[in-house]
Amino acid sequence: MWKGLIEEYKQFLPVTDNTPALTLNEGNTPLIHLVNLSKKLGIELYGKIEGANPTGSFKDRGMVFAVAKAIEDGSKCVICASTGNTSAAAAAYATRAGIQSIVVIPKGKVALGKLAQATMYGAKIIEIDGNFDDALNIVRQVSETTPVALVNSVNPYRIEGQKTASFEIVDALGSAPDYLCIPVGNAGNITAYWKGFKEYHAAKDSGLPKMYGFEAEGAAAIVKGEPIANPETVATAIRIGNPASWKLAEAARDESGGIIDSVTDEEILAAYKLIANTEGIFVEPGSAASLAGVIKSVENGKISKGAKVVTIFTGNGLKDPDTAMDTSTVEVVALKNDEQEIRTYIEGVL
Ligand code: F0G
Repeated sequence: MWKGLIEEYKQFLPVTDNTPALTLNEGNTPLIHLVNLSKKLGIELYGKIEGANPTGSFKDRGMVFAVAKAIEDGSKCVICASTGNTSAAAAAYATRAGIQSIVVIPKGKVALGKLAQATMYGAKIIEIDGNFDDALNIVRQVSETTPVALVNSVNPYRIEGQKTASFEIVDALGSAPDYLCIPVGNAGNITAYWKGFKEYHAAKDSGLPKMYGFEAEGAAAIVKGEPIANPETVATAIRIGNPASWKLAEAARDESGGIIDSVTDEEILAAYKLIANTEGIFVEPGSAASLAGVIKSVENGKISKGAKVVTIFTGNGLKDPDTAMDTSTVEVVALKNDEQEIRTYIEGVL
């Protein structure tokens, strides 16, 4: 039986005898061969389904370790800023470990499912009239002078936990892919994946991918080369104007020979619908940014035909039902509670 990340990967993590055995059995997520999109795009494309983690996003990988280390250091409370997924994961793991969590979120800009999660898991939830960057500044300051452990991805243990996804990809494929495509918000995850690929390569000679990161155009600080005061995108998960791991993301890009590019909201929503209705995989809009980036890069030649590509689907589509219903063009057909009427309709469809 899968024992969770800390136990499974302890030889690659800074685990000590005092690190608690915290887990919700995170990790070990599916890597799915996207057969229909592979054919359409002329590449060998795989999706890593991070929405299959216990709270429905990749944040569980980093959070299990950050919370375990906070407890090892004697903390009784964790705090984070969040566009939603980090807050859900922090709340779940803090509760599991028997400590308090406090989350600071941008008012009106967190998808409904994520807010529901933080509520159910028992976080203290603070919303501000400001964006994620404002919230992160505040919690960074507060955590310096207050006995609360900061569990945003500026916490190095978050990166340690999240790097394990690279190990799983290499184990599933037998070696690193040619390209690793990933959405970029606060830039912790691209940093973590690159660290993971490098460490596995050092241990197992497994090869290194080119790292391709994709920001939403209205929040593309790294692409534009300057912070964005008022970032805007339909992909609220990555609505971030001043990524904390900016320099580390650029290092991942440059060391791997990759790119950081942007995708428009239209491209994100097109990819969001495409992955659901061609492969039966429902991801949240922020996750669709990486597939939008794959499509853009195949079209402009930055991904070569026939290449082996892994795209990271960072969060589950169920987290953001509002965007799904707002963008769906499918109409629900209302019929009478009558077998003949329904039979006639079905015969018309066939
Ligand atoms: N995809 C999803 C679904 C996310 O929730 C995030 C970040 C990212 C991608 C980007 O990852 O920040 O490491 O570059 N969400 C954070 C949060 C900011 O608060 O949940 P990153």
